[in-house]
Amino acid sequence: MNKFLSVYKKKKVLVTGSTGFKGSWLCFWLHLLKCNTIGIALRPEKGSILFNKLKIKKKIKQYFINIENYKKLNQVIKKEKPDLIIHLAAQSIVSLSYKYPQKTIKTNVIGSLNILEAAKENNIENLIYVTSDKCYLNKDNKKIYIESDRLGGEDLYSASKASAELIFEAYQKSFLKAERPIKFASARAGNVIGGGDMKKDRIVPDVMKSLINKTRLEIRSPKAVRPWQHVLEPLYGYLILGNYLIKNKLKKNIQPNWNFGPDVKNIKSVKEIVLKSLKYWNIKKKFIFKKNKKFREVNFLMLNSKKAYKEIKWKPKLNFDDTIRLTVEWYKSYYNKKNLEKITKKQIEFFLKK
Ligand SMILES: NC(=O)c1ccc[n+]([C@@H]2O[C@H](COP(=O)([O-])OP(=O)(O)OC[C@H]3O[C@@H](n4cnc5c(N)ncnc54)[C@H](O)[C@@H]3O)[C@@H](O)[C@H]2O)c1
Repeated sequence: MNKFLSVYKKKKVLVTGSTGFKGSWLCFWLHLLKCNTIGIALRPEKGSILFNKLKIKKKIKQYFINIENYKKLNQVIKKEKPDLIIHLAAQSIVSLSYKYPQKTIKTNVIGSLNILEAAKENNIENLIYVTSDKCYLNKDNKKIYIESDRLGGEDLYSASKASAELIFEAYQKSFLKAERPIKFASARAGNVIGGGDMKKDRIVPDVMKSLINKTRLEIRSPKAVRPWQHVLEPLYGYLILGNYLIKNKLKKNIQPNWNFGPDVKNIKSVKEIVLKSLKYWNIKKKFIFKKNKKFREVNFLMLNSKKAYKEIKWKPKLNFDDTIRLTVEWYKSYYNKKNLEKITKKQIEFFLKK
């Protein structure tokens, strides 16, 4: 067994956002590790497939509650008293933050505040509080962000993630610093791809859906450069960080914020991602570039993750080709009605052998 992951056997881990993309992969992985996993989330969205295809409901104890409802959230945390909370629940789509600004703030800011408060009230020992690479103030100047960089956001999604981080810091300083300096951590990862994500306005799911449904493939911002990362990379980062938190192994004065970004070699344009995906699907398909952006988006975002390399021995494992190959293999298996639990397990094993 992997030296970082054996700690999860029989531990109680509560994952918020368990019906979502990252949450379903994480709950599946924790189940393989024989962890006693609790999920909190809204019911799976129409069109989403992962939670059901991976049979997560049978593998974990699932509560369908809204994290904006402090009373209900607190009841579950009080009852379950997990060893670790991994908070992933969010309104996670930038374009939807233009359509639903209040909803985005309520879930991402008030919901996250509720997680902190319930964790504090119930003396939860360990928390990984996931925000985003978009929490950094991004002026589109090709900067590579480190954990201490200035937070901010010029769209509501980014502002919600920056706000969630500010509240996290205030909680640390107001309530936790003296007794538990490093047991609550915030984690920031970049654009994540991998099998089963069906969200709208995310490039890889859009490409995969157009291949599965044989519909027109429309791409916006072909030149936009992103740090692409397989979903297993940040999840592995959270699991390693969780190991360090649970075992109390972090240096005493370390700051509680962690970047988990991809290798610079995985910085690729949207166009490169599309071409590589078509290659691995083994299909020639025309795609159309949409000129008019529906909303403002920054074109470059890159994280410096040296702190995680140094302090917790986390490093990205997959190169760009493996990242796309695994992703396409998963969607193609779905298209061909293969056993997706088997494919997912095989991909996790492949990842761990890297
Ligand atoms: N996927 C990415 O590329 C990416 C990149 C950077 C950061 N993130 C962050 O990682 C986290 C997980 O992302 P994801 O891609 O799995 O998102 P997702 O949209 O697939 O899943 C979101 C999950 O949160 C739950 N949720 C939403 N609102 C809720 C509410 N009010 N109460 C309870 N549960 C609620 C949903 O039910 C779902 O389980 C989010 O915080 C997201 O912002 C994701």
